[in-house]
Amino acid sequence: MRTPLVVGNWKMHGGIAEARELALAVRDGLKRPRGVEVVVCPPFTALPAVAEVLAGSPIGWGAQNAHWEDKGAFTGEISPVMLVELRCRLVILGHSERRHLFRETDEEINRKVAAALRHGLTPLLCVGETAEERRQGLTFTVVEGQLRAGLAGLGSPQMERCLLAYEPVWAIGTGVNATPAQAAEVHGYLRGLVSELASKEVAQSLRILYGGSVKADNAAALTQEPDIDGALVGGASLQAPGFITIARKSAAKGGPAKE
Ligand code: 13P
Repeated sequence: MRTPLVVGNWKMHGGIAEARELALAVRDGLKRPRGVEVVVCPPFTALPAVAEVLAGSPIGWGAQNAHWEDKGAFTGEISPVMLVELRCRLVILGHSERRHLFRETDEEINRKVAAALRHGLTPLLCVGETAEERRQGLTFTVVEGQLRAGLAGLGSPQMERCLLAYEPVWAIGTGVNATPAQAAEVHGYLRGLVSELASKEVAQSLRILYGGSVKADNAAALTQEPDIDGALVGGASLQAPGFITIARKSAAKGGPAKE
């Protein structure tokens, strides 16, 4: 049984006032979300304001990245301890923008995943192929490599505490989402791998989100696929009405969770 999860990744958008306003609108539009969990990930600087707005509401908040060390001489980095202090629920790790624009390696991402777990944060590990890799028929090879490396060294109980997101790079910010069938194929593959790496039980309970041009008009078709357990939303999470619609459309039909 997996309750769908919708995560808004605000990326590097908005100052504190805008973030507060957006968080307020999401909170007020989703007072009692049924059959779906919702988390927003604002820029670091807006986290305290967003936490203040969302405290006591069913909407959670998280961060877009974290370093693997607790503290030290790492200019410009944010540690998982700092995110715990801000009561973050989850942290997005290995996002394609981190991998491609900032050259994060699988090994670094793996260290970040382990550090997040060590501090009680839920890592949302992102994987996904580029357009060229898909064209070359390398989709499964690429996501498998990223998944195995990202979860390396973790035991089943730790993997059980993770979240995954399949975000094909070619679908991010392009307006061209993967079709439900394309996404479902990769999600099924990832779930099979988790079953191998951890256990069938862990694979059945682990939520795998889809990200890449999710909008109000495609969310329902994507999340009704059995292996798609919600959405990681970029651009469309910056407008409260659209994001609220995505959350509602991603909710499990007729109950709090889907099997
Ligand atoms: P878009 O929804 O803007 O395509 O971004 C997806 C994404 O990268 C979420 O992490």
